[in-house]
Amino acid sequence: MSEFSDKHVCVFGGTSGINLGIARGFARAGAKLSVFSRSQDKVDAAVAELGALGPAAHGASADVRDPEAVQAALAGAVAAHGPIDVLVSGAAGNFPAPALGMSANAFGSVIGIDLNGTFHVLRFAFEHLRKPGAAVINISAPQAWVPMAFQAHVCAAKAGVDMLTRTLAMEWGPAGVRVNSLVPGPIAETEGMRRLLADPSKADQLAKTVPLQRLGTVDDCADVALFLASEAARYVSGAVLPVDGGWSLGGAQIAMSKVMAGG
Ligand code: NAP
Ligand code: COA
Repeated sequence: MSEFSDKHVCVFGGTSGINLGIARGFARAGAKLSVFSRSQDKVDAAVAELGALGPAAHGASADVRDPEAVQAALAGAVAAHGPIDVLVSGAAGNFPAPALGMSANAFGSVIGIDLNGTFHVLRFAFEHLRKPGAAVINISAPQAWVPMAFQAHVCAAKAGVDMLTRTLAMEWGPAGVRVNSLVPGPIAETEGMRRLLADPSKADQLAKTVPLQRLGTVDDCADVALFLASEAARYVSGAVLPVDGGWSLGGAQIAMSKVMAGG
């Protein structure tokens, strides 16, 4: 038995990469999972994997830019597994491009997914959260406070996500809902890293820009997500917690200019 046994954990963007790793961590701890993303094939694969790891898994296709799709996804999850104990909002998009190389739609697509999508997920999940006691975790990025060239859309969107975290921690604290940001650093073997690293052979060079001298893993992020959702973090709300080996202390900007795509 763990404290997450039969708890309902909902992960938006939970069908690949870091968010799927987080979903796996909760499933292994005995939680019932609900996962959502756009691709029905990715949803089906994640549901099959998570269902084999834990007690039950549900999933549906939904684009977080569509508030009605988010509401329908949440209603389906609650019908399947009951009120939500842990909500993870991690759907995101990224591509390296100079601001002058972005159309209004290009900038808006990342703002729409990362920032507006996070608002939709949290706004419409609130009524379904088990209160008091629910934990909300937004997946942010170092770009929220480390300015990076060729990442204007992500920097602006994730800065907004962290302010949503802090604002809603204030608004929802009295209802017994904690809201925190988990900030992955450079995480190996993820779509985010594939998109930003110009040359995969430079991964070792990138690792040297991290004070802890290695890239992160999805399990590094999953362990911290379980901590943020746990009783051990019962007095933690409004925190923006890097899981980056110290990268955002300085190495992030070095990497962007020397190692990553667009530099
Ligand atoms: P990923 O595997 O591409 O994960 C993104 C997830 O979001 C996928 O499940 C994707 O599935 C879903 N998604 C994308 N657009 C969506 C939309 N409009 N509506 C609903 N779902 C959508 O990438 P990742 O690298 O693991 O990144 C996961 C999270 O960590 C993101 O929030 C990212 O900003 C953050 N992060 C990553 C790194 C890193 O090193 N990788 C570093 C810092 C922060 P579909 O394609 O099926 O929609
Ligand atoms: N440089 C400049 N503009 C780009 C671009 C690039 N590398 N890639 C996409 N765009 C532009 C497109 O041209 C389009 O603008 P336009 O209509 O003016 O031509 C706009 O961005 C939207 O692209 P589209 O492919 O229609 O959007 P989408 O909503 O289907 O996809 C993305 C959103 C672009 C973020 C896509 O990369 C995605 O789905 N990503 C999810 C996975 C991911 O990024 N994972 C890493 C998470 S950190």
